[in-house]
Amino acid sequence: MRLLLFCLTVFCLFLATACQNPGKTQPSIAKSVFGKLADGREVSRHTLTNGAGVTVQIINYGATVTSLRVPDRNGKMEDVVLGYDSLTEYVNGTSYFGAIVGRYGNRIGKGLFKLDGKQYQLATNDGENHLHGGKIGFNKVLWDAEVLSDSAEPSLQLQYVSHDGEEGYPGTVTLKVTYMLTGKNELRIDYEGTTDQTTILNPTHHSYFNLSGSCTNKILDHSLMIEADSFTPVDKGLITTGQLIPVADTPMDFRTPMAIGARINDSYEQLVFGKGYDHNWVLREGSGQIRKAAELYEPASGRLMTMFTDQPGLQFYSGNFLDGTAKGKNGIAYQHRTGLCLEAQAFPDTPNKPDFPQVTLRPGQVYRQTTIYQFSTK
Ligand code: BGC
Repeated sequence: MRLLLFCLTVFCLFLATACQNPGKTQPSIAKSVFGKLADGREVSRHTLTNGAGVTVQIINYGATVTSLRVPDRNGKMEDVVLGYDSLTEYVNGTSYFGAIVGRYGNRIGKGLFKLDGKQYQLATNDGENHLHGGKIGFNKVLWDAEVLSDSAEPSLQLQYVSHDGEEGYPGTVTLKVTYMLTGKNELRIDYEGTTDQTTILNPTHHSYFNLSGSCTNKILDHSLMIEADSFTPVDKGLITTGQLIPVADTPMDFRTPMAIGARINDSYEQLVFGKGYDHNWVLREGSGQIRKAAELYEPASGRLMTMFTDQPGLQFYSGNFLDGTAKGKNGIAYQHRTGLCLEAQAFPDTPNKPDFPQVTLRPGQVYRQTTIYQFSTK
């Protein structure tokens, strides 16, 4: 009888624990070898798992997110970012899938800028312009990876030291990027940068999202909301003109959720220049504080991504240059507009636009950025 009672109590306790923690997974970080660079250096891949079973995989080549598996409204976990299966494809790729880009995210006109009266010529890699850090930007280098925490909220810190003169930039810059997978299903990215000479720094994260869980689907049915009343128009070379234009009465108005495909092919000049959306939105005041920047929703899966940042701008790029030539994970050729980027940043070409919030970093100062991509369903 006593034995029966004991067994019953143990069973009830087991049931109670199971009900309190439905679908609980032990948070963890696992490390594996992803590949070897031509010079023999090994590239590692870390898999971060949180208590809800959400996983993110990060390689230390380019500090790149290679996969991010989050649940749909029925709890089905699927990968919501574009990427490649092998290191060679990341080395040869030209799309910046999942990487940290820098030193300067987006374009600097003709790669030229002045700092304290001195002119600098950066590497040009986008016609006559400088894009995403140049020919060998932060996305094409090997970072040092260190596990900061493998418990409740696993986090991985990556560090890269960019030497004085790299891609034409002055000063030796040390950048630390920490990816954390929180208990609230957030991918949190904290940046911390220092320099030994006055320079400019404006890194960003370049994941291409497709919340449907299948990258054969276009992102045109995703609905997007951006917390911005204006955007920075560009010229034909996609260099900002220095103006801010109100989004009201234009296809750039995402103040209320709107299907990306609803107006993308309008004859609006800015959409023609961008070949779709490829612009910087001026986030509402609060730069320097973490606030909501955007919401991306995919109706079929119910996945909702809410983005928070302390940056002044948000580049929304609708994957206009994807054309089927990049073969991605599982051999899927990424077709036109099958992924989109939401990049937290300072405005493009800021060093040449004195009225934009500046990105100068001096010795003794610390560059900081926090950006959060939070996943839920509705
Ligand atoms: C830019 C695009 C560029 C793309 C490269 C985006 O951040 O806004 O103009 O072509 O990155 O993959």
